[in-house]
Amino acid sequence: MFMLFVVFMWAKSVAGEDGWFWQVTDFHYDPRYSTAGVPTAMCHASAAGRQAGSPGVWGDYLCDAPWALINSSVYAMRQIQPNPDFILWTGDDTPHVPNEELGQQIVLDIIGNLTSLLKEVFPAKRVYAALGNHDYHPKNQLPPNGSDIYDAVAGFWREWMDDDTANSVFKQGGYYAVSAAPHLRIVSVNTNLHYRNNLLTADMPDPGGHFAWLDRVLSDAQANSEKVFIVGHLPPGFFELKRSQYWMYPNFNERYNELIRKHSAVIAGQFFGHHHTDSFRLFYDDEGSAVSLMFLCPAVTPWKTTLPGISGFGANNPGVRLYKYDRQTLQIKDVVQYYTNLTEANLRGGPVWQEAYSLTGTFGLVDGGTDSLHRLAASFTGPDASQFRRYHQFNTLSYDPGETCDTDCWVDHVCSITAVGHDDYDVCVKDKVTGGAPGSKTIQIVVILACVLTVLII
Ligand SMILES: *[C@@H]1O[C@H](CO)[C@@H](O)[C@H](O)[C@H]1NC(C)=O
Ligand SMILES: *[C@@H]1O[C@H](CO)[C@@H](O)[C@H](O)[C@H]1NC(C)=O
Ligand SMILES: *[C@@H]1O[C@H](CO)[C@@H](O)[C@H](O)[C@H]1NC(C)=O
Ligand SMILES: *[C@@H]1O[C@H](CO)[C@@H](O)[C@H](O)[C@H]1NC(C)=O
Ligand SMILES: [Zn+2]
Ligand SMILES: [Zn+2]
Repeated sequence: MFMLFVVFMWAKSVAGEDGWFWQVTDFHYDPRYSTAGVPTAMCHASAAGRQAGSPGVWGDYLCDAPWALINSSVYAMRQIQPNPDFILWTGDDTPHVPNEELGQQIVLDIIGNLTSLLKEVFPAKRVYAALGNHDYHPKNQLPPNGSDIYDAVAGFWREWMDDDTANSVFKQGGYYAVSAAPHLRIVSVNTNLHYRNNLLTADMPDPGGHFAWLDRVLSDAQANSEKVFIVGHLPPGFFELKRSQYWMYPNFNERYNELIRKHSAVIAGQFFGHHHTDSFRLFYDDEGSAVSLMFLCPAVTPWKTTLPGISGFGANNPGVRLYKYDRQTLQIKDVVQYYTNLTEANLRGGPVWQEAYSLTGTFGLVDGGTDSLHRLAASFTGPDASQFRRYHQFNTLSYDPGETCDTDCWVDHVCSITAVGHDDYDVCVKDKVTGGAPGSKTIQIVVILACVLTVLII
């Protein structure tokens, strides 16, 4: 009894107060958005005679975000939780248009617009931001050794990055680390250096010395008894909406995953964007234990991806996300995802931002930790498993794709969640595709026996 009491008091002294922080990502502000435009032309060129499906004031599923939607999303954050400890902003600010329609100045103006909006709505709060592959001109070509764009953005973000070292490191490589609380270090990574569409870094062993730096920062955090939140845009692993679609060059993907496994004890969370969908990624050690978790936050832009091979899915309702965490241990205690139904917003004169789900309430998890999300993924036993159906509905924040998630779709989700390495992913897909067809194991055994018998007979 006394021991129980001691353990209880110890647990109490280790756990701290609850705090909240926001994550917002992939605004993709389109200054040329027009309600007189045509959705199939990004809501740009005006339609000769208005047609069914003309874009609404608050946006369109085929287009990037108008300012009205972006402004509404950030004001909604303040209305829902005006006093977060900080805000994570994980990149991709500019529209999905050809480079020729943008330019260095337009890209910087847009990053400046969003920086100003966050400062206007949350003047006293720190925003920890990461660059996305669209936050550069030309897009995706983020350099490993400094640039005018990094310099200008370092200026925009100076007061949130109140640290000379962080600011000069950022100017060089587009990444930085700062202390956010006595035992919390925020590390903003520039994984755009590892993007396979980045032509500048393809043949480099460690572009911008980023991995060497990350290894050192994580080791120092361990030595200082700190915990780390990693904030980034472009995630390792695979896109859950398309079989075998990945972003990082495979050698960089491997290197990132190795670093996460090596330092999993100090990493209290990873927060990324880029997919525009709502998902998560689990990292496993060699014994098969889940050791780290990455949250993928859904976008503000509703824009439907143009990646070939994705038919019905690929657009989303706009979302913003709140995390509840323990300020002492940095344990994630809950995720509360907010969204607005874009169709409704256009019909009813403006967005209503409401809760889509929470991990504890809707999914019944005890917290937002690695073990809980590992158990959630383990409950995704088939396309009709109730937790999987729930997860899948919120993957697009209830955007209606007009088709259901079949076995192949389920395989793509489950394997991208549980396998961030190429070999593991291939094994997962192979297992699930063969294992998915009932009786296929029996057929394999019969075939093998038949072969053996044939050989024996011959
Ligand atoms: C931004 O949203 C706020 C809150 O709804 C509103 O008062 C303000 O007029 C909006 N500004 C713009 C430029 O839309
Ligand atoms: C974005 O920034 C540019 C340059 O400062 C400015 O001209 C424009 O009005 C801004 N747009 C918004 C929506 O704030
Ligand atoms: C970065 O390296 C490239 C290739 O070596 C060079 O052309 C460029 O001028 C360098 N940029 C800076 C800011 O040092
Ligand atoms: C969004 O609004 C549209 C139009 O009212 C409605 O048909 C649809 O069911 C709504 N979606 C959700 C998830 O509520
Ligand atoms: Zn994006
Ligand atoms: Zn992106």
